[in-house]
Amino acid sequence: MLSVAPMMDRTDRHFRYFMRQIAKRPLLYTEMVVTKAILMGDRHRLLDFSPEEKPLSLQLGGDNPQELAECARIAADWGYDEVNLNVGCPSDRVQNGHFGACLMAQPDRVARAVEAMQRAVNIPITVKHRIGIDDRDRYEDLTHFVRIVAAAGCRHFTVHARKAWLQGLSPKQNRTIPPLRYGDVHRLKQDFPHLFVEINGGIASLEAVRQQLQYVDAVMVGRAAYDTPYLFATVDRDLYGAPVVPPTRCEIATAMLPYIEEWTARGTKLHAITRHMLQLFAGQPGTRTWKRQITEGVKRAGAGAEVVQQALATVANKQGAIASL
Ligand SMILES: Cc1cc2nc3c(=O)[nH]c(=O)nc-3n(C[C@H](O)[C@H](O)[C@H](O)COP(=O)(O)O)c2cc1C
Repeated sequence: MLSVAPMMDRTDRHFRYFMRQIAKRPLLYTEMVVTKAILMGDRHRLLDFSPEEKPLSLQLGGDNPQELAECARIAADWGYDEVNLNVGCPSDRVQNGHFGACLMAQPDRVARAVEAMQRAVNIPITVKHRIGIDDRDRYEDLTHFVRIVAAAGCRHFTVHARKAWLQGLSPKQNRTIPPLRYGDVHRLKQDFPHLFVEINGGIASLEAVRQQLQYVDAVMVGRAAYDTPYLFATVDRDLYGAPVVPPTRCEIATAMLPYIEEWTARGTKLHAITRHMLQLFAGQPGTRTWKRQITEGVKRAGAGAEVVQQALATVANKQGAIASL
């Protein structure tokens, strides 16, 4: 019903563990991992996760059906709940590898990949894509892509509701300049009611999530989840109907302390974890103090959980002082 988008350099395991202190139910995604890295690189570094992060989807970047199938098999063995194929990234690096968004021009290739992956594993293979690329951005181009890939066994399509320009725009511009066309995604769900259609792009409030859920099966939130993570604090209760009390920001930060202690004791830099926590108090009194104390604190030699504890105490004091006014 709700998920946090795959984001390079953001949705690493520490961010995902942090998100799980805020909400247990939404599906989380890894950053995109390219197949060659998994096949030739340090798998533990690329794939390990904490059990608390589940449900968890591994996003793969690649275009070779055999390699993708092998990586899907590895992902299933590793304990991932699903594998997602990236057909939405427009970066030059990804285009040079002939995968990402440029694969939208080759639905047959995507279909072969999905088929090989789905044959290799019992967990779902899902696809994240755009509504179109370059001049192939008519609704019929979208349905052509979806029809062919669905026939190969994909049931879950996550659609970033804007096209990508493969030449001339940076990935960042491709997330802002092409206009959002939610109507195309809603229509897709109408025309393919048996498919699970998830919408993505520019959705930044729970109200907006609820509105979208009238038309589609699920909503994926990217930047807003990173920039205002506390947005997710009520979703277990309010969207999933779980009988839970939403955690406070202080409870969330406190829940991170044992995790931080464990990881810093093993030699991980404090910053690798706390950089994802800087926005916890976004929009609240004390947010600047929180960010400053942490960004300065992490620079001290041997910095550990006490940096977060101290920042938390300062913010709690500030908030208490404001509440008592
Ligand atoms: C920093 C950053 C990194 C991203 N990395 C990926 C990625 O690895 N794979 C992917 O499919 N999309 C990636 N995206 C795109 C997001 O998943 C999402 O589709 C996009 O940000 C639109 O959703 P939003 O408006 O909710 O942020 C990235 C976006 C950002 C901001």
